[in-house]
Amino acid sequence: MSLVRVQNFSISLDGFGTGDGQSLDAPFGHAGERLHEWMFATRWGHELLGRPGGTGGIDDAFARLFSVGIGAEIMGSGKFGPPGWHSDPDWHGPWGPNPPFHTPVFVLTHHSRPSLEMDGGTTFHFLDAPPAEALEAARAAAGGLDVRIGGGPSMLRDFLAAGLVDHLHVVVVPILLGRGVRLWDGLEDFDRNYTIETMVSPTGVTHLTFTRTGADG
Ligand SMILES: NC(=O)c1ccc[n+]([C@@H]2O[C@H](COP(=O)([O-])OP(=O)(O)OC[C@H]3O[C@@H](n4cnc5c(N)ncnc54)[C@H](OP(=O)(O)O)[C@@H]3O)[C@@H](O)[C@H]2O)c1
Repeated sequence: MSLVRVQNFSISLDGFGTGDGQSLDAPFGHAGERLHEWMFATRWGHELLGRPGGTGGIDDAFARLFSVGIGAEIMGSGKFGPPGWHSDPDWHGPWGPNPPFHTPVFVLTHHSRPSLEMDGGTTFHFLDAPPAEALEAARAAAGGLDVRIGGGPSMLRDFLAAGLVDHLHVVVVPILLGRGVRLWDGLEDFDRNYTIETMVSPTGVTHLTFTRTGADG
């Protein structure tokens, strides 16, 4: 059975997965780029941006697991675009013509629209369905590979609450955001069903992996 995985999901010390005031110019609101600076400093992050260089080490090793063995992603409407994207029929997401997913991507939204085929193998499908149903659709499209839950924090929280996630990689960034959207709210005792390992990177971020008890792989 393929696994349901979360990779590189970054939160602040106070648990926010995005800042306040998301907009076209500020996809993470007042958090700016601070939640993902660790990732874009890595060699993998540089490759993603088409630049030479970048760091090796723990952060790079984790970051590149993003696409390994993944056959589809499910993301929330708030990751696909800033508030108001629904009213722009030409909105294709913030990643340009060749998004970094290279698989089918299921965008959860109550405002459905026709699928969008992008360069590089990414096709966005728009789906209004509860988490378990969305997962069924993504699994069917993933060709036996794993399904990545891409966030943002609201939809990820729903998938965690529904007990659908096998492997969760969270990166705690040592910043305090104070406001935004929290990941952990309402997930009391979530940790009890997982084996948790923690690795502190010399860069200051902490990688936590939650592996569901009994999940194979
Ligand atoms: N920290 C990280 O690593 C990370 C990762 C990814 C994204 N982000 C950031 O997180 C932010 C977005 O997160 P968010 O919490 O605001 O929003 P989100 O989780 O991306 O999306 C929530 C929205 O998705 C739609 N939705 C969710 N579940 C649905 C369902 N079952 N059926 C139909 N529609 C559903 C609804 O929007 P509709 O109004 O369209 O129905 C809902 O308001 C962005 O700033 C993004 O950049 C952070």
